[in-house]
Amino acid sequence: MKAENNSNKAVILAGGQGKRMKAEIPKPLFRVLGEPMLEWVISACEDAGISDICVVKGYKEELIEEYLGGRYTTALQAERLGTGHAVMQAVPFLEEGLEDAPDGNTLVLCGDAPFIDPVTIKESLILHRQNGNAVTVITAELDDPTGYGRVIRSGGGSISAIVEHKDATDEQRAVREVNSGAYWFRTADLIQLLGRLTNDNVQHEYYLTDTVAGAIAEGKNAGAYKSANPQIIRGANSRRDLLELNEYARMEVIGKHLDNGVEFACTDGIIIERSVEIGQGSEILPGTILRRGTSVGKNCIIGPYSVADGCVIGDNVEINTSQVFDSVIENGAVIGPYVHIRPESRIRSGARIGDFVEIKNSEIGDETMISHLVYVGDSDVGRKVNIGAGTVTVNFDGIAKSRCTIGDYSFIGSNTNLIAPVRLGKGVYTAAGVTVTRDLPSYALAIDRGELKVRQGYTLKKMDEKKMDDKTKKEITKRKKDE
Ligand code: UD1
Ligand code: CA
Repeated sequence: MKAENNSNKAVILAGGQGKRMKAEIPKPLFRVLGEPMLEWVISACEDAGISDICVVKGYKEELIEEYLGGRYTTALQAERLGTGHAVMQAVPFLEEGLEDAPDGNTLVLCGDAPFIDPVTIKESLILHRQNGNAVTVITAELDDPTGYGRVIRSGGGSISAIVEHKDATDEQRAVREVNSGAYWFRTADLIQLLGRLTNDNVQHEYYLTDTVAGAIAEGKNAGAYKSANPQIIRGANSRRDLLELNEYARMEVIGKHLDNGVEFACTDGIIIERSVEIGQGSEILPGTILRRGTSVGKNCIIGPYSVADGCVIGDNVEINTSQVFDSVIENGAVIGPYVHIRPESRIRSGARIGDFVEIKNSEIGDETMISHLVYVGDSDVGRKVNIGAGTVTVNFDGIAKSRCTIGDYSFIGSNTNLIAPVRLGKGVYTAAGVTVTRDLPSYALAIDRGELKVRQGYTLKKMDEKKMDDKTKKEITKRKKDE
């Protein structure tokens, strides 16, 4: 059984441009819920146990190559001469290992139909093998089959051909069962059938679909597997289509979380990528975007208008109108409103990070309070520290970045500047407005006060100098009397 599994391959067609998308990237790289459609197709293969994959690239091939980053084999289709021609470019990949697995099978898929699912892939393979087919077309029934290849069945119900919409008669166009663009082939038969394709049709393309009639003409078996999931057909030819795919996927993902006990009072503006996990009892509020494998624990409140991207978020966390990237937020932390947590940060349990605070590449200890208007960068802040408004860790001198360390139980006065590298021990106090340029020992106070000079009547003198009009003068002096 294992040897058979290993002989399953997949070829994903990703050569097309998608002219109607009006952008200079290959169509399969357009994103649905944050991931290129190509990635959806790849992950369906992987989830079905197929990882021997060849991606056929064409238009802007370098972008496909860059995206794949060497994860899979690729084949170049230098000109777009049809889906059959695209698969021909993968023949060397198909031939690899064929001698050892003469009955191996290959799944051919479109890189721009993201909702192909592993169940359909696996069940269609079972049918394909049971019937000893050379080709098994994966089909579905649509209310509106316009534009798709129609599945033509003969009297006994077995498939006899696929006819493209443009080539079809009115009678054939009335058929609602369509070709999904995904098929299983016995690899050896595929290679043979590709060799016989011609471009004798309306579009002058080499149609992969002609392999069905080709197989039958050769006396081989051809079959169809009708999927119960019509979504497998859906692709995007335009930005409007792409928006529809996104909306469908978005609600599917939200639906899954609803089933798992996540609360959504309203789904407006909520985008949750499929790699995201959310614990029971958590609530996601409008305008919240959860991306790239973010995990959210139990009983959290995330949102409104928040972004968490690549984050690990514990239980009972609140994130309100804030953005958090590649960071860890531990249990019970309260973030926001208006906080920006940049990568490589760790906010420990029960810490409170308040409005207009930016944290970067820093660790913030348990129950530490950073309530407003602070920048903490490249720093290690201990537990139960209080950082006053306006404090800045001055981590960059124009050449190098350096770290600040603030010990447990320290109290950093408002508008403190900590000139990195600098270490503050435990329980240190800094007076408001101080600029700390050297390390401070535990339990010390840093204070740097010049003498405060007070000049009486300064404003009144200034008014005369400015030759201020009497009305304004009166107003100022009247207010003064009121005080
Ligand atoms: C194809 C099928 C049609 C099916 C439909 C499902 C053929 C002839 N027709 O039609 O029966 O109902 O898919 O969506 O196969 N591609 C290349 N190189 C090419 C041409 C296409 O790589 O030269 C790629 C495209 O990027 C795309 C896929 O193949 O990912 C399908 O091509 P597309 O032009 O969209 O096929 P359709 O005409 O829609
Ligand atoms: Ca086409």
